[in-house]
Amino acid sequence: LDNGLARTPQLGWNDWNSFGCNVNDALIRQTADVMVSSGMAAAGYQYVNIDDCWSTRSRNGNGDLVPDPQKFPNGIAALADYVHGKGLKLGIYSSAGLTTCADYPASLNNEQRDANLWASWGIDYLKYDNCGDTQGRTGQQRYTAMRDALARTGRPILFAICNWGNDGVGTWGPATGNSWRTTGDIAGNWGSVMGILDAQPGWAASARPGAWNDPDMLEVGNGLTDTESRAHFSLWSLLNAPLIAGNDLRSMSATTRSILTNTEVIAVNQDWGGRQGNKISDNGDQEVWLKPMANGSAAVVLLNRGGGTATVSTTASALGLGSASSYSVRDLWAHTTGSSGPTISASVPSHGAAMYIVSGGGTPPPGGGTSVLRGVGS
Ligand code: GLA
Repeated sequence: LDNGLARTPQLGWNDWNSFGCNVNDALIRQTADVMVSSGMAAAGYQYVNIDDCWSTRSRNGNGDLVPDPQKFPNGIAALADYVHGKGLKLGIYSSAGLTTCADYPASLNNEQRDANLWASWGIDYLKYDNCGDTQGRTGQQRYTAMRDALARTGRPILFAICNWGNDGVGTWGPATGNSWRTTGDIAGNWGSVMGILDAQPGWAASARPGAWNDPDMLEVGNGLTDTESRAHFSLWSLLNAPLIAGNDLRSMSATTRSILTNTEVIAVNQDWGGRQGNKISDNGDQEVWLKPMANGSAAVVLLNRGGGTATVSTTASALGLGSASSYSVRDLWAHTTGSSGPTISASVPSHGAAMYIVSGGGTPPPGGGTSVLRGVGS
């Protein structure tokens, strides 16, 4: 969507994956505090997003949505002021139907009323779900109505479509929202993350600045091992996915924090070399994912889905880098630079990934040939 927002994929946090309906003012304030103190804000995270269950069960006498007074005793405008005071932005949630997925009142037929209310509170981001009675209207009609209502408020509000890849959103999504979910809900286990990954290759052509495929929020530090969390973060970055953390930032481990704040990996996510990353090879357990970078280098993820450590390989020519005898290889998890021959390999642990930037093709190293590079965790 050409509204000036999300020219690179949005970074932030959302309460749903860890807290479900247990959202409240203190959680959002504490999360905003930690987003700054942990270094996440400095790494690029900006949005603190409230998901479902924030309102009362019915609209007030004027027809407006009302923040649950137990969960948000200060109201949401005051919360927005607090979050803005931290240099961050606040997001909210509704649905393009009569009710949300957790059965709270939603915004179909009240698009302008609700958009105006959110704008008056200082809201910066809307996640707009696909639950509730749709009154026979198409997805495109319902999401276009909210896009236009948000635009009429005059406030920049990032519009995140959440319709799980339905209704041909790959076709109309780019002109309608800043991102759109491609798949159903993620869960904090490896099988869920891989199932969502498998559905992504067909979506790549729809992505562009201002309009991103969304394979759902992150489960880094949420039920995955550290090795799995690094693989998940590597892949979502390579896909130009919105990077919306879903863990409890207040209690995250130092390792989880270091994964979420790996600025070399985030830089791949924020780079637009003309297309999002995609899979270029798959032998069943080992996959190679490539993203061409704007400067002509190649970001590559070498993924091992198998049960034991394995060598995962590709070639410079498969990465679009020609057939020189030597390449520079930056390891984005080890933060080291080495060189390799035209075969790029890593020893990768089970459920792990190596992530590299491969560039050049200069002078051959003494002896030439293939260097096996160290994989993550090996
Ligand atoms: C849907 C969305 C989730 C979350 C829940 C809230 O399932 O896909 O991301 O917002 O609704 O009820």
